[in-house]
Amino acid sequence: MKVLVIGSGGREHALVWKLSKSKKIDKIFCAPGNAGIAQLAKCISLKPTDTRGLADFALRNKIALTVVGPEDPLAGGLVDEFQKRRLKVFGPDRKGARIEASKVFAKQFMRKYHIPTAAFRVFSTAAEAIGFCRSVEFPVVIKADGLAAGKGVFVVDNLKAATHALERLMLERSLGKAGDQVIVESCLKGQEVSLMCLTDGKTVVPLLSSQDHKQAFDGDRGPNTGGMGAYSPTTLIDKEMLEQITDFILTPTIKGLQQEGITYRGVLYIGLMITETGPKVLEFNCRFGDPETQVVLPLLKNDLLDLLLAVTGGKLASVGRLDWRPESAACVVMASKGYPGSYHAGKRITGLQEIDDSQTFVFHAATTLKGNLLLTAGGRVLNVVAVDRTLSQALARAYRSVHKIRFDGAFFRRDIGARVLKTARR
Ligand code: AMP
Ligand code: GLY
Repeated sequence: MKVLVIGSGGREHALVWKLSKSKKIDKIFCAPGNAGIAQLAKCISLKPTDTRGLADFALRNKIALTVVGPEDPLAGGLVDEFQKRRLKVFGPDRKGARIEASKVFAKQFMRKYHIPTAAFRVFSTAAEAIGFCRSVEFPVVIKADGLAAGKGVFVVDNLKAATHALERLMLERSLGKAGDQVIVESCLKGQEVSLMCLTDGKTVVPLLSSQDHKQAFDGDRGPNTGGMGAYSPTTLIDKEMLEQITDFILTPTIKGLQQEGITYRGVLYIGLMITETGPKVLEFNCRFGDPETQVVLPLLKNDLLDLLLAVTGGKLASVGRLDWRPESAACVVMASKGYPGSYHAGKRITGLQEIDDSQTFVFHAATTLKGNLLLTAGGRVLNVVAVDRTLSQALARAYRSVHKIRFDGAFFRRDIGARVLKTARR
């Protein structure tokens, strides 16, 4: 069987790595992939948003399953086009992807189906939104409606900062159409966790829980990034909490999607805040998380292909319980100095060959080969993932390898997992 994975980051490297363990797969293609992925798959130079090019490729090469990594192609209707051509593809269609692509849609959906989330208002003009902010209690959170790769959310603690954010989004149009509408919502307090679920639109199966680290610097300081590290599972979601999440969030979400006429097949990623009054939804994503996937997949014992095929075939109910390694996984992201702002690429990476450990996995996020030199090619460069008996051991193991890897301007957070370990010790 031939499989195509779409995307080029650490998430896609982890997907390709896990799929490469399936005996049913003879060949994996990745579009466009990166230098790490190229060790396991044949990389093809097609952009993830080149829907027609990718569908033509899948038809020509008799691809049995295409797995979509990032949100852009899903929001752009890649799945609709593949389905039209009778090609099997993992991910929701354009209608389903709105759960991530439009925050206004997602919030109104949650309101309609009584799914716990922060109180909010929607605005179409800066003047109205600023007027509203004159009467709110700060901090509040301002969010652009559309896709913004993490750059459309501002936690502000005074009117001046709120006005600045709203003017940039709605008058200067810093994110273009994504800022046509904005949400102003109340700021939730608590610990943030991620729960990725597989669903075929009828059955929903949560994967192991995880926690991302969104801020760039230690102590959760600095600007928001795509994610600087993660671990799985998290003690913040125990059995009882998972039951609460299932009853109050998962079940009403799946029923709501059905009632909206959406057959949602793929990953439903739920970003949650565990507050004093219970779990609340911060955001939905329509795809696997990055870097959450890099810590969840190494713990999965099942054949990933079987699961993805069960989802696309509408047969997830037949899969039964998932089988997990009873250990922990930790991921430290190594990034380029300046990320999430501007940074230099093309820096030589060394030290990877010094890592010789069957429980450490280096998933490439943005690398390229020039001759036989490995070079940085983006903001987040490498994900160093380790599996061990406990979270502390997994973290120590990951950091041992991080210290062996070098490139000019490399930076990483030194406190991945530290907050939850401190809480656990108390
Ligand atoms: P989102 O893309 O909506 O998840 O927002 C990005 C990040 O902003 C989240 O991961 C949170 O860290 C933060 N955030 C979003 N909404 C809220 C909220 N209502 N309260 C507190 N923090 C939030
Ligand atoms: N790690 C957050 C995300 O994938 O959106």
